[in-house]
Amino acid sequence: MMIDGDRVLINANIATMSAMSVDGSVVDSPIIDSLVIDSPITEGLAMKSRVIEDGALVINEGRIVWLGKQVDLPSVSPSAQIESCDGKWLTPGLIDCHTHLVFAGNRADEFEQRAQGISYADIARQGGGIQSTVNKTREATEEQLYALAFSRATAMIKQGVSCVEIKSGYGLDIATELTMLRVARALERTLPLTIKTTFLGAHALPLEYAGRADEYIAMVCDEMLPQIAAEDLADAVDVFCESVGFSLAQTEKVFRAAKHLGLPVKLHAEQLSNVGGSELASRYRALSVDHIEFLNEAGVKAIAASGTVAVLLPGAYYCLHETQKPPVELLRQYKVPMAVATDFNPGSSPMASLPLMMNMASHLFGLTAQEALDGVTINAAKALGVDKQIGSLEVGKQADIVCWNIDHPRDLVYQFGLHPIEKMWKAGTTVML
Ligand code: NIG
Ligand code: FE
Repeated sequence: MMIDGDRVLINANIATMSAMSVDGSVVDSPIIDSLVIDSPITEGLAMKSRVIEDGALVINEGRIVWLGKQVDLPSVSPSAQIESCDGKWLTPGLIDCHTHLVFAGNRADEFEQRAQGISYADIARQGGGIQSTVNKTREATEEQLYALAFSRATAMIKQGVSCVEIKSGYGLDIATELTMLRVARALERTLPLTIKTTFLGAHALPLEYAGRADEYIAMVCDEMLPQIAAEDLADAVDVFCESVGFSLAQTEKVFRAAKHLGLPVKLHAEQLSNVGGSELASRYRALSVDHIEFLNEAGVKAIAASGTVAVLLPGAYYCLHETQKPPVELLRQYKVPMAVATDFNPGSSPMASLPLMMNMASHLFGLTAQEALDGVTINAAKALGVDKQIGSLEVGKQADIVCWNIDHPRDLVYQFGLHPIEKMWKAGTTVML
């Protein structure tokens, strides 16, 4: 048998991050502990184990068309380029499923204030916080926002990231919200990066609407959202549902408007207190609920039932000196998929390193190395609704692949700052690092 391929990666150890066996059942074999199950590939379709040692992988037209033990490698079109990985490890490209990458300005002063014990909420009340970034973002031109976002996205790619979610929410007026989303879309056209955009018009109440939150929400639903949908600028809709953000009733209005336009929803929920946002998100079959330090068992049950992903944001937990940890044990018990993301933004998480978040999720929240790796690959893909296309190395998926110079996948969670990337491919094409 000869298969069509334009690139063949050989001499590789492959952490597939795939959750499915050929018969569609969930494979429990962990990548970290019992490492290799020597299972054969069935009909070249998918594999039973999640790790393949001494493996090979064939790419054709940007997609994975075969992977398995190198001894089983079928013959591939003679024109295919063969690349040796010299025994190093392949993983899927990492996915950062929660960022606020497009913004102007800098809030280093707030970082220093928090170090002196002033809280995030107090800083916001004094006119800092989200509103201060809104002012700077409104003043910036589209070109300036693009240049800033481009350099941040490039820094992420260099750390092994091949897909990023980007939220709006620092415009809070129609023109600037549209500009932020256009900048996010433009990045995808110029960088080797998949970008999923999220409209977060309901991020904070802009000053000009002080005391008129319901009017602002009506504007978000009746004016902003239809225009954004008409220009296809958003892949999902998010709300900051919190005592210092928007109420459950206001959140539901935005969710209803999103559903009406056929857009999936997600939620910044239970970050500073528990207001029941997760139950509401579950009723709207949200893709994810994010932060969730104050999520309780009823909320966990609800999101388990709706298949909603729990997104853990250890960078914000760390930078806000939070002490309440997300309910990881309950999430395990109810089998809720956990993702891990940077929440990169100028205030609560000025941290653009997804590898650092894996380390923090393990050290601060007690995730196993396996869970941390799942959190930035397959579960992050689920949080964005793109797990059919990316997030694991499987036949039929896009060839977004990183080759790491490490002894074992757990090293990605344990060590930080060595930048052990050897090579990277985006949709089968080499990424210049
Ligand atoms: O995810 N929770 C609300 N939004 C951001 C913070 C944004 C900011 O402080 O600028 C977050 O933590
Ligand atoms: Fe956020």
